[in-house]
Order: sequence, then C-alpha cells, then structure tokens
Amino acid sequence: MSPAEPGPSVALAITGASGAMYATRTLAALLERGTHVELIVSDYGRRLLRDELGDAASVDRLMPFLAAKYGDAVEAGTVALHSNRDLGATIASGSHRCTGMAIVPCSMKTLAAVAHGLSRNLIERAADVMLKERRRLVIVPRETPMSLPQLRNMVLCAEAGAMILPAMPAFYQKPKTIDDLADFVAGKILSALGFEHALYPEWTGQVPS
Ligand SMILES: Cc1cc2nc3c(=O)[nH]c(=O)nc-3n(C[C@H](O)[C@H](O)[C@H](O)COP(=O)(O)O)c2cc1C
Repeated sequence: MSPAEPGPSVALAITGASGAMYATRTLAALLERGTHVELIVSDYGRRLLRDELGDAASVDRLMPFLAAKYGDAVEAGTVALHSNRDLGATIASGSHRCTGMAIVPCSMKTLAAVAHGLSRNLIERAADVMLKERRRLVIVPRETPMSLPQLRNMVLCAEAGAMILPAMPAFYQKPKTIDDLADFVAGKILSALGFEHALYPEWTGQVPS
C-alpha cells in the first residue's frame, strides 16, 4: 500500500455489517479510476472481510485480493491504511484535503455514533469531520429489520448532510451474479461521491432483454 497521494482523495471506512463485497467492489472501483483512498477498517469490519470473502481478503492482503478479483487496473490508485484507533491521523482533521467519505457497509453501531457525533475512533471522527466541513458523507447501512432508534439515527445523519444509501441492489438490471449486485451498489456509491463509472448500464427506459 503506497503513501503517495496522486489525484482525488476520498476516505473509505469498512465496518462490521454484512456486505463486505460492497466494500471491496467500491474500493476497487475507486482505485481503478486513480483515486487515493484513505482506508479505515474497524475490528469487526476486519472480521467480516474474512468471514464473507475468505482469508485472502484480510486487510493485510487486500491489494493482491483486489487485483486477483477485479484486475490489475486497481493499481492505478493508491491506499493509505489507517488504524481505527489513531485519532491523530490526517483524516481526523478538517485541514486534510480528503474530499468525501463512504462508510461501506455501515453497522448500526457506527451509524448511531455518527448520528450523535461521538468521534470515539477514527471512522467516527472522520465522518464527523465530513459533516462539519460540509463534505460528502455516504453512509451505506445494512440491517434488517430496523428498529426505531436505527431509523431515527438515519434521519439524524441525513439531516446533518449525509447521504443514506442503503445496501439495496435493484433487480431491473437483471443481475446474474452476486458480483452484479455488488457492482450496482458500488456504482451508486461512486455516483454519490461525485465520480463517473460504468458499474451498471444507464437506464434506457426499458429493462434489458
Ligand atoms: C457475522 C456478523 C455479522 C454482522 N452483521 C451486522 C449487520 O449486518 N449490521 C449491523 O449493524 N451489525 C452487524 N453485526 C454486528 C456488528 O459487527 C457489531 O455491532 C459491531 O460492534 C460493529 O462495530 P463497528 O461498527 O465498529 O464495526 C454483525 C456481526 C457479526 C459477527
């Protein structure tokens, strides 16, 4: 993982909700377009990467995993991995040039912390920075069903300026594989961060045959 910072810079947080593939697809798509990614993975995010995608997707082996699964184009971008315990990291400050952040997937615990501005770890603090600096914060919650406190926490985040982008793939594109579903959600996340992509076909007015 390189410390170099060419091109646009965004933060990506992976927390301990189901849907690790949404995170790896989003990370790969950002890297493919030459983005510098400030990556933070919570303890349970690390567990979910391994539980859902296998040991090859553990954080210390993530770049080879992405290259094997999505191709060498991921090497166009760079990743700086931060400890979630390091509240002195660059992205803990509004003076850092990071332009946006996505939390993919976002656990209900981290959602609650962002909703209430707790800033107890780097993920929570970096999200708080995005809100106070009026930058893009994309929250991808994953839970079902949802309690009233969880629903209220989403409203609080939306009121504070975050975009709530639930991990809800659509089916009108006729997905054939799990990867197609992950592509759709990752494409929505890139759009929300302001990036162009070709992760799903543009809607033409008719479902594909
Ligand atoms: C296998 C597994 C799956 C989980 N799935 C979810 C989930 O989909 N959504 C959620 O909010 N929490 C889920 N959890 C619980 C969170 O991981 C737990 O609340 C954790 O404290 C979240 O911490 P974090 O936000 O710092 O990653 C899951 C836990 C495990 C072990």
